[in-house]
Amino acid sequence: MKINPVYRLKGDIKVPGDKSISHRAIMLGSVAKGHTLIKDFLMGEDCLSTIRCFKQMGVSITINKNTVSVKGNGLHGLKQPDQLLDVGNSGTTMRLMSGLLCGQEFDCSLTGDSSIIKRPMKRIIEPLTRMNGRIKSINGDNRAPLYIQSSTLINIDYTSPVASAQVKSSIMLASLYTSGITTITEPYTSRNHSELMLNHFGGNVQVDGTKVICTPVDELFAQEVIVPSDISSAAYFMVAGLISKNSEIIIRDVGINPTRAGIIHVLQSMKGQIELDNIRMINSEKVADIIVKSSNLEGTVVEGSIIPTLIDEIPIIAVAAAFAEGKTIIKDAAELKVKESNRIDTTVNELKKMGVDISPTDDGMIIQGGTPLHGAVLDSYHDHRVAMSLTIAALNASSNTNLLNSKCIDISYPTFFEDLKRLF
Ligand code: S3P
Repeated sequence: MKINPVYRLKGDIKVPGDKSISHRAIMLGSVAKGHTLIKDFLMGEDCLSTIRCFKQMGVSITINKNTVSVKGNGLHGLKQPDQLLDVGNSGTTMRLMSGLLCGQEFDCSLTGDSSIIKRPMKRIIEPLTRMNGRIKSINGDNRAPLYIQSSTLINIDYTSPVASAQVKSSIMLASLYTSGITTITEPYTSRNHSELMLNHFGGNVQVDGTKVICTPVDELFAQEVIVPSDISSAAYFMVAGLISKNSEIIIRDVGINPTRAGIIHVLQSMKGQIELDNIRMINSEKVADIIVKSSNLEGTVVEGSIIPTLIDEIPIIAVAAAFAEGKTIIKDAAELKVKESNRIDTTVNELKKMGVDISPTDDGMIIQGGTPLHGAVLDSYHDHRVAMSLTIAALNASSNTNLLNSKCIDISYPTFFEDLKRLF
């Protein structure tokens, strides 16, 4: 993708549905009783992988534009897939579905693309094994492909070493197939969409600080789910609006669940002009319209409990920091190393090529902002979030950029370039 500088962005947009919520709606809809209707579903490759896997397990799922209809099979109605379940690039599909699969009365195998088979799976293998799940890494390296055999699960009290919604949700889904109360305690609270949606479907989940308490129920019941727009996708436009001169962007219907909205606090602490309008609740999820205006950003420190609430936004926060006066320090974010790419290295390498004063640390990065950026030949490393973050940086560079491997953006935001161009 060739990206020429554009110095002013104006307009009103709605970004696609939330990826995390779209995945969960398919999974819960598939094991609920009845007909679940999902509106504003994200038609990105990751969520389509989840649909494909559940279809392989005998669930009837139909798509009409952005609405998905799922005829649920009930908690015990999934069928053995006749082939490997292929999650593509989707870590959420692999980790959440594994929890659910440990509780089924059939054996199956899961695999994915060249990135997914390098990502750590011990974080789910370990707690699921403690629950009596029979889940194995086929190559014995604690990575996918995974082989899951049927077993009788037991409830556990688990203290997770990482704040990970994927780990938490995997255990929560497995806990549906036990007969006692399972608790999961995290170091910090990660995104809570599974908690909210399970209760929406008739589950029994309580929360006490960073502990989640799951009581199994006999059945889940189909619901209508309206998916808010994804704050992780909105983040590119928030930063674009702040760093481009004479710009103003309104982003409609964005999910601002407090466990996801860390980027808003960080950009406000950088003196970004961001306003929330029309705040309301949809299916237990908080939603708002977000208005951003060109701002003179200042450096900041991003650390501690806010990190899980903005973990996917760190590459675009690094871009904001490059355009801010002063130093930005991002720490406590070692999880970035095990995302779709090692996002500490990939973000640092590519922004450096544009002239940014940025260095990696063990658990984050340090950016000295304010140096003008120039265009360059950049690589996304097949990481959708890196690709979109670099695009926003490139719009504000002094010369043209050539972004290699930009097709990966289809993972979470297939219409990204079209939406962006509407603001030129
Ligand atoms: C996700 C959780 C996060 C996030 C990922 C989606 C989810 O991962 O990075 O893109 O839907 O639960 P971790 O919870 O493993 O940090």
